[in-house]
Amino acid sequence: MSGQRYEKYSDEHFLTKTALNLGQMILFKRINDLKKYIIDSREANTTIGFVPTMGALHAGHLSLIRASKNSGYLTVCSIFVNPTQFNDPSDYQQYPITIEQDIRLLEQENCDVLFMPDVQEIYPPDHQKKQYRLGQLELYLEGKYRPGHFQGVCEVVDRLLDIVEPDLLFLGRKDYQQCMVIAELIRLTGKSTRLEIVPTMREPGGLAMSSRNLRLSEADRKRAIAIYQTLQKIKTVIRPGEINQLSKEASATLLEAGFSKVDYVSIAHAHSLAPVEYWDGKTPLVALAAAFLSGVRLIDNISLTED
Ligand code: PAF
Repeated sequence: MSGQRYEKYSDEHFLTKTALNLGQMILFKRINDLKKYIIDSREANTTIGFVPTMGALHAGHLSLIRASKNSGYLTVCSIFVNPTQFNDPSDYQQYPITIEQDIRLLEQENCDVLFMPDVQEIYPPDHQKKQYRLGQLELYLEGKYRPGHFQGVCEVVDRLLDIVEPDLLFLGRKDYQQCMVIAELIRLTGKSTRLEIVPTMREPGGLAMSSRNLRLSEADRKRAIAIYQTLQKIKTVIRPGEINQLSKEASATLLEAGFSKVDYVSIAHAHSLAPVEYWDGKTPLVALAAAFLSGVRLIDNISLTED
């Protein structure tokens, strides 16, 4: 990136502008400006693909942008670190911010629009908090260990979908439960957006790509591979019958591999996420894990019944 282009993103400049034309990509900070642009684009019968993110972009995010671009959609990416979905304030404080690099990566992918609102724009004083009835889905796994997290995710995604009104919403399968929660949000709110779930991108050793990986040391990145290997092991050994023991063994393996705490390793029904203790050999299953390595909480999942 040349110095001149770099200057365009510098804070001082950025704070005084609400929309910037960055060559291919247009950056909006205000909802009204973005909406105007979207209304104009719709007049030209454009299909809109939307990739919501919290920034610190990696190849996983870029695969979502690519999925939208390759389908020929006008592609809108948002970067907004949503405070309402962090149940742990220090996780929010430490969430990595790499905005200049994010912009450069999005430009390389020919993303069309970047929406980067500030907190007041998304949550103005008259913003009304809703309660989303997610039922059981909110009680399992991430819902159990991160109380309120999915309400916060629904709050921001509901808002973003109302602003962007995309035809398609692209989400990564790495956040398996989040994909199910957002599918439920779309159903509950009667939105017409279609959800596209894109496979998890992995580092060469198998570690699922995540913005949180930026907080891992080189040595921890190597250790972190155990989370994927452990899930793969379950897939290799699972047989119909009692399967409870497999999750327990997997948790123990993660602790041996250097994880300090395991929130869960769960073998669950792939559609409801209800834990499965006895497998009939037919029920679609997914194995999911969440564990801490040097204070960084990592999650991953794999299907046990698909190839
Ligand atoms: O997966 C994420 O990055 C976030 O949960 C999302 C969907 C952008 C909502 O803030």
